[in-house]
Amino acid sequence: MTSVISLQPPREPLDKRGRPMHDLRISVMDRCNFRCPYCMPKDTFGEGYRFLGTAERLSFAEITRLASIFVDLGVHKLRLTGGEPLLRAGLQELVGDLAALPGVRDVALTTNGVLLARHAEELRAQGLGRVTVSLDSLDPAVFHTMSGGFGNPAEVIEGIEAALAAGLAPIKVNCVVQRGVNDHTLLALVERFRGTRVVVRVIEYMDVGNRNHWDRSRVVPSKELHAMIDARWKLAPIAAGYHGEVAERYGFADGAGEIGFISSVTQPFCGGCTRARLSSEGVLYTCLFATQGLDLRTPLRAGADDAAIEALIRGAWLGRNDRYSEARAEPNAEDTRRKIEMYYIGG
Ligand code: GTP
Ligand code: 5AD
Ligand code: SF4
Ligand code: SF4
Repeated sequence: MTSVISLQPPREPLDKRGRPMHDLRISVMDRCNFRCPYCMPKDTFGEGYRFLGTAERLSFAEITRLASIFVDLGVHKLRLTGGEPLLRAGLQELVGDLAALPGVRDVALTTNGVLLARHAEELRAQGLGRVTVSLDSLDPAVFHTMSGGFGNPAEVIEGIEAALAAGLAPIKVNCVVQRGVNDHTLLALVERFRGTRVVVRVIEYMDVGNRNHWDRSRVVPSKELHAMIDARWKLAPIAAGYHGEVAERYGFADGAGEIGFISSVTQPFCGGCTRARLSSEGVLYTCLFATQGLDLRTPLRAGADDAAIEALIRGAWLGRNDRYSEARAEPNAEDTRRKIEMYYIGG
């Protein structure tokens, strides 16, 4: 009897650091209705800025086809991001198609919340599992500073309430903290959501992109914020929900729910990073701080079959060696590479 030796590569590729690909973050829209200075500062993203044209963005059918190939390679979590994903007309249809893919266990959405009240029900009906809403402050003036003058906290709260009512739980609220800008309003934000099913996650301000005028002195280390919150409401650590979870979780000792800290600057988490990112024009990035990506739209539109596209993605993942946040944390680290922008690749 002859033994059959399989020449097939393992189905799920591991990168050069042994990390599998489990999450795909899909930016469906490069535009945003906010101009948060830490992400899309007005001085760059003003009226003359050229965003992608409709035909340049991947269609829903193209996104769904790529997503199914990523699922074959090990992805089971999908997150739709932007810019602002709810600016993409008919997003619920895409959600429906993605949620129906065999092998997809989790479809989530990251939004600034302004358009959420309008869409929560239909998104849920189409199979969206949960939402994460960016909300940096409940103080209207501080909120305005951090959104570039757009929206207001009341609208965002309305969006969160609608998402809760629609059953899009657990809802997470992402709060990027900048020293001297919104750190003095953090306790009020935490207090607002204590005892609700909303989990606040406090995020260290990061040096994403090249245009957000990042200044390390504006980063408030999570340790400091933990101490501030713990002094008001005692916190106790909770185990990670899954391998490679980005947020460090803490529960309120009095049982009023939990909060998370995302400390990409002071405690980088590249070792467990299983995230791939797809831009709205179909470029694959293997790191939030990547300098270049792999164009999947060209082969897709040239008629490449699934096996050919899968081979491209597999090759990119096998060659992945990214650990930007860890490298930045090393002594004397200096990095002046041109990075892609956050609005373009999503959070
Ligand atoms: P779930 O655990 O699935 O709910 O999501 P998550 O923890 O990945 O959180 P989310 O997608 O809301 O990300 C929150 C923030 O963490 C982002 O907006 C980024 O600021 C930061 N972040 C997420 N993923 C990465 C990453 O891979 N690298 C770095 N450096 N930061 C990240
Ligand atoms: N630092 C940290 N987080 C950021 N985000 C955008 N820009 C930055 C930055 N410079 C996060 C926001 C939002 C998500 C889309 O990305 O919190 O929740
Ligand atoms: Fe828009 Fe989110 Fe960027 Fe703010 S952080 S400009 S809401 S994509
Ligand atoms: Fe992953 Fe890059 Fe973030 Fe590190 S810096 S956790 S490799 S996306």
